[in-house]
Amino acid sequence: MEKLVISGPTPLKGEVEISGAKNAAVAILPATLLINGVCTINNIPNISDVRLLCTILEKMGAKIVWNTPNEITIDTRHINTTQAPLDLTSKFRASYYLIGAMLGRKGEIEVGMPGGCKLGARPIDQHIKGFELLGANVRTENGTIYAKANGLNGAPIYMDIVSVGATINVMLAAVLAKGTTIIDNAAKEPHIVDVANFLNTMGADIRGAGTDVIKINGVSELTGNKTYSVVPDQIEAGTFMLAAIASKGDLLIKNCITKHLESLTAKIVEIGGNVEDNGDSIRVWYSKRPNKAIIKTLPYPGFPTDLQPQMGVVLSTANGTSIINESIWESRFQYTEELNKMGAHITAQGKSAIFEGVDELFGAPVYSSDLRAGAALIIAGIAATGKTEVYNLEHIDRGYENIENKFRKIGANIERVSE
Ligand code: EPU
Repeated sequence: MEKLVISGPTPLKGEVEISGAKNAAVAILPATLLINGVCTINNIPNISDVRLLCTILEKMGAKIVWNTPNEITIDTRHINTTQAPLDLTSKFRASYYLIGAMLGRKGEIEVGMPGGCKLGARPIDQHIKGFELLGANVRTENGTIYAKANGLNGAPIYMDIVSVGATINVMLAAVLAKGTTIIDNAAKEPHIVDVANFLNTMGADIRGAGTDVIKINGVSELTGNKTYSVVPDQIEAGTFMLAAIASKGDLLIKNCITKHLESLTAKIVEIGGNVEDNGDSIRVWYSKRPNKAIIKTLPYPGFPTDLQPQMGVVLSTANGTSIINESIWESRFQYTEELNKMGAHITAQGKSAIFEGVDELFGAPVYSSDLRAGAALIIAGIAATGKTEVYNLEHIDRGYENIENKFRKIGANIERVSE
């Protein structure tokens, strides 16, 4: 078993490069199944979810060459099965994108029920509704999803819930469908725009991604032969922005799109942090104890749920009592119990938590319950006095590339240790 051992407190100082977006990459890789050709994707984050997806695609007949640690060339001309490896697909969330992509490519797919972070109920009814409106038949049996279509036809689809996954998945299924699909009440996250840009680069006709109405005119084929660069990860950028404040540091965060970070930037300024926005980089620095705040997570462009735990670390030592309302996931406050072991004073109940700001956090052994909880605990360990050991690194490695190296380069005293 591995753990991260962190000695704090250390103010983080210097520059950090942001990787490509996890939640874009894990959709773009399945999207390559729609291409009857070869394409190159760069700025791919080298994280375990991406490597797992590559293994799954290879088992389905794709040929993948890693040109560099962050660039692959993928040949999806010879997909030879409609069965995705069930044991692997049920290990993570983004395997659900194989359904939309394979319905488009082969009209059929058998895939394990998606796994992923345990954040409460994670139904996929909106995905299924979209596939069915396009003409597919979807059934679930013993943890396996079977989806089949005898040709897909474009349709108007109203999403009852704003869902990142359902929006992307239905977009994937609609790209090669006959006629026009209109997704109404679509999610607007930057990774949705990125997946649409990728597909359009390969020959699709998708308009309106990034607004709540997406129009997809079905095309007969995607041919590839192009190179695409994954958008920078706004959640990784936000994680370092909050680490700068929590650690009383000063960071220049490079290779990010600051427009994607506006809700976070506004909150950092509101709590008394300093931000200098340079468009493709952002400097964030601490000058005084953060003010209390009230935060509600919302779909983009609202405050992202995937930065809620990292913000929780900052508010745990703010001046006064803060409240966070989590409106996306039922169970995203598991990290607060771990922060309380470090001296925080947080009361979480259901989808709300009250943070009574304490003067200081102290090192302790802590367990990450999911990806962003893990990032939050690392930040807490860097800000806390004494030694912190963070366990359950498999969650963190799913979504952050070289996390301890990136933190070490900006001054953190952090080491990965095998027990
Ligand atoms: N929902 C439904 N039915 C559906 C789909 C979603 O009720 O068919 C509900 C969910 O239960 C949730 C809400 O709608 O309450 C939003 O879920 P969404 O579908 O947007 O989430 P997701 O696609 O499963 C992605 C990210 C998550 C991120 C959320 C919200 C990926 C692989 N995952 O999940 O990322 O929290 O969007 O932005 O893109 C993370 O990176 O740490 C992470 C958990």
